Amino acid sequence: MMKKLLVLSVLGVSALCAADGAKLFGAKCAECHGGDGKDVSISGKAIAGDAATLTKLVGYKNGSFGGEQKATMQGSIAGLSDDDLKAIAAHVGTLK
Ligand code: HEC
Repeated sequence: MMKKLLVLSVLGVSALCAADGAKLFGAKCAECHGGDGKDVSISGKAIAGDAATLTKLVGYKNGSFGGEQKATMQGSIAGLSDDDLKAIAAHVGTLK
């Protein structure tokens, strides 16, 4: 019984980690960028598949990147860790 529980929890944790970027994107980004990263109505630009996403997110965080509406993005990623941003950027890179 204990063994089964252990296996289940290990599987559960790894499944959660793998899905993190997609989950975070859905919760934190899809509202403005669309679930597929292609909604341009708010950001003016599709982000799907952009290999520079992590650089841009880090830039928003430290103030070195951004346009006229950068405050919106800075607010959106406030509270996300560097690992969160990495997971999200990896997910954005898979969007087509
Ligand atoms: C409240 C709306 C909103 C949310 C939520 C939001 N964004 Fe944005 N995003 C914007 C706006 C507006 C811009 C344009 C900002 C500027 O002027 O630099 C933008 C720009 C970007 C850019 C830069 C695009 C480029 O190439 O110039 C990236 C990358 C991005 N967002 C990713 C994300 C990610 C990832 C998340 C989730 C963590 C997210 N955004 C959440 C509104 C939002």
